[in-house]
Amino acid sequence: GGSGGSGGGSLNAKLPEKIRDAGVIKVGTDAAYKPMEYKEGAEIVGLDPDIADAMGKKLGVRFEFTNGTFDGLITSMQTGRFDMIMSSMTDTKDRQEGLDDKGKKAGKGVDFVDYLTAGSSILVKKGNPEKIETVAQMCGKKVATQRGTTSHEILKTQTEKCEKDGKKKVTVEAYDTDDEARVRLKTGAVVADVSDFPVAANAAKSGSDFEVVGEQMESAPYGIAVSKGNTKLRDALKEALVAIIKDKSYEKALQKWGVE
Ligand code: ARG
Repeated sequence: GGSGGSGGGSLNAKLPEKIRDAGVIKVGTDAAYKPMEYKEGAEIVGLDPDIADAMGKKLGVRFEFTNGTFDGLITSMQTGRFDMIMSSMTDTKDRQEGLDDKGKKAGKGVDFVDYLTAGSSILVKKGNPEKIETVAQMCGKKVATQRGTTSHEILKTQTEKCEKDGKKKVTVEAYDTDDEARVRLKTGAVVADVSDFPVAANAAKSGSDFEVVGEQMESAPYGIAVSKGNTKLRDALKEALVAIIKDKSYEKALQKWGVE
């Protein structure tokens, strides 16, 4: 109670004034990452939108998801297109500090509110025809992944290792979306698609053409990203997250989407 502003959530007063007045938090995402975020008709649905919805009840605002290319989400946020990113984005030091894939300063960086943990997984055709269990076994093979992701980084690092060991490099095909990478696997153009475990596991559900092999790699927190210095929004989001964990709506959302 006593929140004032546009919404009924008790945390409303903690939000930046501009957001309170608008009653909306604009969210950038790449909605081709089922079950985390994906399109059902024109609507963006999934675990991330459901977690946001629950947080919105605490904050007395609506979260409005907009689709964008994953690799450009941070830049888009920094130009003001949205207030935050919620896109299964791994909380990495490079993103915090605004470094590009070569470790060079490329932007002002972001602050994260961590909300889940996941690592990368290897998705292959059912029956695992190439007998692949690790990225180390991908030297000399063609593999697809989503551009600008932690999985893409793992494959870039692996290809350097292959060459150092005197083996052929991994031919890494990087796509704007993981859906495109999975199509390449389906047609047999690549031997694997490397993406986050919840997404790979969803694609490998019974009756599909795929299976997940090997162990999860580099498990790390997913974070909601806000522009560096937007501490008011960051702290309000953090409090809303704590509130939905406490009242179990967070856990319910995970169960609904089969994510642990
Ligand atoms: N967690 C990985 C990363 O941060 C992949 C996230 C991709 N998200 C998406 N919605 N496509 O790089």
